[in-house]
Amino acid sequence: MRRRDLFFYVPVAVAGGFFAWFGLRTYNLRFRPRPEVGEPTWNDGPKVAVARLGELAVWQAKPFAYPLPLGELKAFLLRLPEAAPGGLSLEGEHYIAFSRICTHQGCTLNYVPDPEAASILYNFRYERPFLGCPCHFGAFDPLLGGKAVYGPPRFPLPRLRLEAEAGTLYATGHEVPLRPMEGA
Ligand code: FES
Repeated sequence: MRRRDLFFYVPVAVAGGFFAWFGLRTYNLRFRPRPEVGEPTWNDGPKVAVARLGELAVWQAKPFAYPLPLGELKAFLLRLPEAAPGGLSLEGEHYIAFSRICTHQGCTLNYVPDPEAASILYNFRYERPFLGCPCHFGAFDPLLGGKAVYGPPRFPLPRLRLEAEAGTLYATGHEVPLRPMEGA
C-alpha cells in the first residue's frame, strides 16, 4: 500500500468503526429485548422490619437498608396499585421491595414518582413511576417486577422477599443472583 493511500483508508476505517459502534449502541439501548421477569428464587436472610401495613400510600416508596454478609444493601419498599411478580399482596394492598443497586454499573437508584418530570430529566417518557439511575439514565419498572425498560441496563433489579406479621412488613431474604454483586 502506498503511503498516500493511508490518507484515504485511515479516515474511512475510523469513520466505519464509529458508525459500527454507534449502530450497536443504538440497537442495545433501543431495540435489543431485555429479559422478562419471572418468579424469584429466594435466598434466606435476616428478618428486618420495613414498614407498617397501610403506612404507605399507593406509589409511595420507602428506602431501607438490608443487612448482607458483604455490607448493607440499599433497598426500596414500594406500595403498588396492583400485584407485581415477586411482590406481596395482602388485604388489597400490594408491595414489592428492590435492591437500589443498578444492574448496569452499580450506581444507587432513585425513585422517580413523576413520569412527566422524568421525561425531561431522563429523555424517557413512561406511563408510570419507575426506579431511575442517575449515572446513565437507566430505568426499571416496579410493576413489571423490576424489569429494565430503558437505557444501558439489561438485567432486572433483584427483589427482596416480603412477609407480613402482626401488621408489620418484613424483608426476609433476597433474590438470587443478587446482581450486580453476584454477577449475571
Ligand atoms: S450505572 Fe445505572 S445506568 Fe449505568
